[in-house]
Amino acid sequence: MKDLVLDLIENEKKRQSEGLELIPSENYVSRPVLEAMGSVLTNKYSEGYPYFDGINEWDEAKIANEILPNYRYYGGQENVDRIERLAIDRACRLFHADHANVQPHSGAQANNAVYFAWLEPGDTVLGMSLPAGGHLTHGAKVTLSAHIYNFVGYGVTEDGDIDYEDMEQKALSEDVKLILIGYSAFMKIPDFKRVAELRKKAEEKWGHEILLMADMAHVAGLIAGGIHPNPLDFGFDVMTTTTHKTLRGPRGGLIMSKGNVASPLKKPEKSLANIPILIDRAVFPGTQGGPLEHVIAAKAVAFGEALKPEFKTYAENIVKNAKTLAEELAKYGFVLQGGGTENHLVLVNCKASFGFDGKIYEKALDMTGLTLNANALPTDKGGAFRPSGVRLGTPAITTRGFSTTEIKKLAAWMKDVADICKKAGSEEKLNDYAEELTKIRQGVRELSLKFPIPSI
Ligand SMILES: Cc1ncc(COP(=O)(O)O)c(C=O)c1O
Repeated sequence: MKDLVLDLIENEKKRQSEGLELIPSENYVSRPVLEAMGSVLTNKYSEGYPYFDGINEWDEAKIANEILPNYRYYGGQENVDRIERLAIDRACRLFHADHANVQPHSGAQANNAVYFAWLEPGDTVLGMSLPAGGHLTHGAKVTLSAHIYNFVGYGVTEDGDIDYEDMEQKALSEDVKLILIGYSAFMKIPDFKRVAELRKKAEEKWGHEILLMADMAHVAGLIAGGIHPNPLDFGFDVMTTTTHKTLRGPRGGLIMSKGNVASPLKKPEKSLANIPILIDRAVFPGTQGGPLEHVIAAKAVAFGEALKPEFKTYAENIVKNAKTLAEELAKYGFVLQGGGTENHLVLVNCKASFGFDGKIYEKALDMTGLTLNANALPTDKGGAFRPSGVRLGTPAITTRGFSTTEIKKLAAWMKDVADICKKAGSEEKLNDYAEELTKIRQGVRELSLKFPIPSI
């Protein structure tokens, strides 16, 4: 008998095809990425690394055709080694890095590995606070890393930019070991140069090296497409990312770094120059066991896609669509955090726009096949379960081929659903407007089916 799980996967295919994905951290992978992920590589154990020095000097043909000395704990690695080397090499080329560790199982794992590589228990990390738009792994109290390290948060200004003065004041009053730029709900382009200069100042003040880290999980695809500045070009030592958001690869993590690339078997001195080796040791055996080689293969395929010229057009279109969406929503009276967007992401202040919170709006939109998430705003006080806003983005619909014409239609539906929420006043009462919501649902389904998901 067919496993029920397979039926549920079919249902999910239908859900994805007939609705529109507006969650800014989701996307649709290509068929080759999906095939690599669902391959026999999942059968293989390959703890360790397919290592060799001077990775940037290798071309793909050489990597694919030569078996090089490795540091693996199991036999049978000849294909896996080549695949992982290709993934490393492509990631380095894509992000101008000296080294890439492609093994982190997720973005959270990537961040934890960097902390473990550089910090001692009790060391101070300066990162964007969660309410300001930072990520859970940047010091939220509920995380393991917050139990081990001392996270100090900087905020955002009223116009939605990083509060650089707050950051500077904290970097010069706390003995920081790591400065982190990264976020999950932030719509501006960070001033990486300014932060790199602040690092120097703080190093002079505290008399030791400070690691400069960027968690670009959200905008990595824009960086890869060359339309967003790359922190590694501005003197950052490390850049972490997820591979599944704008970068459009499989779910997973990735760490790029600048510095000496060498065997991870020998413990190096803890210095910024040695950060690539420290990171390799921190990923395996520091915080993970065997790598997921099927996912690494899918990462390699996705990085190959991102190196192609078409990817630049896709990245440009993401931002163009996000800007159009922000403008259209503003015309309908939506109040936007930061006044708009410079990247793929839009944060709507539902409370200020219409007087209801993000949860009712998320639920009503869900009923119409428009998927996004309720999100706290910097001004929310501890309202994680009833946040005032919603967060949405354009990567997935851009992958499906949406242009500004469809974006305008989407904004009009969002306004109609907002009007329904205003009339309903509560989630329970939304059912009273089922007819209106169903009508919008039909329109969303029709439009969605005109823009098929690439891998189906
Ligand atoms: C900035 C940032 N870092 C890290 C992560 C964690 O990634 P993952 O969910 O793969 O652990 C996310 C995910 O949303 C993120 O937005």
